[in-house]
Amino acid sequence: MVLVLSLMNQTHGDSNVSGLGSKGCDLFQGSWVYDDSYPLYDLTNCPFVEKEFDCQGNGRPDKDYLKYRWQPTGCDLPRFDGRDFLMSLRGKRIMFVGDSLSLNQWQSLTCMLHTAVPQAQHIDTRVAGLSSFTFPIYNVSIMFYRNVFLVDIVQENGKRVLKLDSMESSEMWKGVDALIFDTWHWWLHTGRKQPWDLIEEGNVKYKDMNRLVAFEKALRTWAKLIDILVDPAKTKVFFQGVSPDHANASDWGEPNVKNCVGQKQPLHGPKYPGRPHPAEVVQKEVLHSMSNPVYLLDITTLSQLRKDGHPSIYGRGGHNDMDCSHWCLAGVPDTWNQLLSAALFHND
Ligand SMILES: *[C@@H]1O[C@H](CO)[C@@H](O)[C@H](O)[C@H]1NC(C)=O
Repeated sequence: MVLVLSLMNQTHGDSNVSGLGSKGCDLFQGSWVYDDSYPLYDLTNCPFVEKEFDCQGNGRPDKDYLKYRWQPTGCDLPRFDGRDFLMSLRGKRIMFVGDSLSLNQWQSLTCMLHTAVPQAQHIDTRVAGLSSFTFPIYNVSIMFYRNVFLVDIVQENGKRVLKLDSMESSEMWKGVDALIFDTWHWWLHTGRKQPWDLIEEGNVKYKDMNRLVAFEKALRTWAKLIDILVDPAKTKVFFQGVSPDHANASDWGEPNVKNCVGQKQPLHGPKYPGRPHPAEVVQKEVLHSMSNPVYLLDITTLSQLRKDGHPSIYGRGGHNDMDCSHWCLAGVPDTWNQLLSAALFHND
């Protein structure tokens, strides 16, 4: 069973919480509205943020993109309260597992929490692929485990083999209280950016494969393991919907513009003019086939509307680079975390 739109049909003990749980409200349907009280935090108070997300620090001149709040059509999204979040999570660990879009969301959350309780000690450790951000007085850890395909890459006879039906890395996340997974962007990489030489399914190795098909096979491996390994009474499982790129402006109906550079405003209204994302369709199918409940953070459409939210030339590589994939912080991933918070604490 997939809890997409699960907020719609549930009866809540406290059904007055900001309209959440009121019938017919889908938090992922709505539009962006200008709100002068935004952003939710000042990034200069978040010293540990990665350079690639620090658009203002990298010289981005416009600021309107910081000012947009996600307004669901049928209700309000509760404003993020970092102290409340930490209190509710006392004694618990949550882990993001995935690629740099996961990192983007993890950094957004750690910045929102740190700026909410600046006096609270925090311990930031990074060992191999695992980053942990811990608040000892709350006994809360927010972790990020980098694993871009979710399935394994193994060295065999000097070749790097991407194994579509193997997920040894599940050892890293077993028993964590809440898990938020993502994978997509790396499935498209070819040439120098492709980190594997062969792709394996069963005992058969292939030189290559349709990437959407490979993505689906890996997701099905992941889904099977979640169904076997995760006790839904102990662990809440989330999947971060596909985070969209804005590398091609004809997708959103501006054929005279090249990509996300110079975009200063979101698209108006609730509808993205382009087609549904192909990976999003596959993702929803796989989640629907599972027996364990997985909550889809269905952020694709709301993020598609934010053609203004990317670093463009104000990311890691500066003017030598064009980043229309990641998101500036403060920015769009803050909204993903507000939605995560709503699902964690207002959806029991
Ligand atoms: C912190 O939380 C863990 C569970 O994640 C628990 O085992 C441990 O006893 C807690 N420590 C303190 C000091 O409360």
